[in-house]
Amino acid sequence: MEVYSEKQQIAVAIDALRARKQTLGLVPTMGALHKGHLQLVKKALQDNNMVIVSIFVNPTQFNNTSDLKAYPRNLESDIALLKTLGKNTILVYAPTVHDIYEGRPVLQKFDFDGLDFEMEGKYRHNHFNGVGTIVKRFFEIIKPDNAYFGEKDFQQLAIIRKLVDKHNIRVNIIGCKIHREASGLAMSSRNTRLKPEYKKAAPFIFEILTAAKNQFGTKSATKIAHWVEKQFEKHSLLKLEYFVIADAKTLKPIYRKSNKNKYRAFIAVYADDIRLIDNIALN
Ligand code: PAF
Repeated sequence: MEVYSEKQQIAVAIDALRARKQTLGLVPTMGALHKGHLQLVKKALQDNNMVIVSIFVNPTQFNNTSDLKAYPRNLESDIALLKTLGKNTILVYAPTVHDIYEGRPVLQKFDFDGLDFEMEGKYRHNHFNGVGTIVKRFFEIIKPDNAYFGEKDFQQLAIIRKLVDKHNIRVNIIGCKIHREASGLAMSSRNTRLKPEYKKAAPFIFEILTAAKNQFGTKSATKIAHWVEKQFEKHSLLKLEYFVIADAKTLKPIYRKSNKNKYRAFIAVYADDIRLIDNIALN
């Protein structure tokens, strides 16, 4: 499996496959790959002749420098994991910060029509501008036909769709279902940093989401939110940052349900100093 760290090198490989009229899928990641990422790569392999997996811990999307420093990085084990898929149609692009930003990383500001003001946007200032900056950069460098993103970051997925739409970028955005551990915990690179007692406690997040979904048919969003807050007040290890029931399209919190719309519950929880997010479709 070829691993490139410079955009000039990967451009040569991309030109060669374009000359052969082959299709190209992109799976953008920040590394610390897990089975959830492998599902995205498998889907991309089914849909395209060649797949590029980018591995890059993007500094402009971190609003907290200690979180950026602590973010797990292990290129060798990421490559080993990708090799288990046994395909010679995967290329890895693991650039340096300099290769991407050509100097000091600069954040681009976007208008996402307010999608970035909700939930994560309230707690992670400029996070989505950072995501937009890097994803747009990857689209410019790689020009994929299809790009794959997990629904665990549902708000990110909506924002990337908006980015593509507003900037007329020619790429299909494909959202993939959340991959969960047997315990129900949504797979995340951050899970590797959980201390054993927090790892044991964390499946509570999905239990609560599932219970919220069960209540959705009969109770109001406000009642469910109060109930969720109470459950976390009683919990000795996990700290709730937010629980929101929102319209799946606008991401705005709902006050009154309508049968015409799709809704989702979104949650962010601290397990010690590790921040975990998850979400679930409610109808
Ligand atoms: O979801 C992620 O891992 C990142 O936000 C992404 C899309 C790779 C951009 O850095």
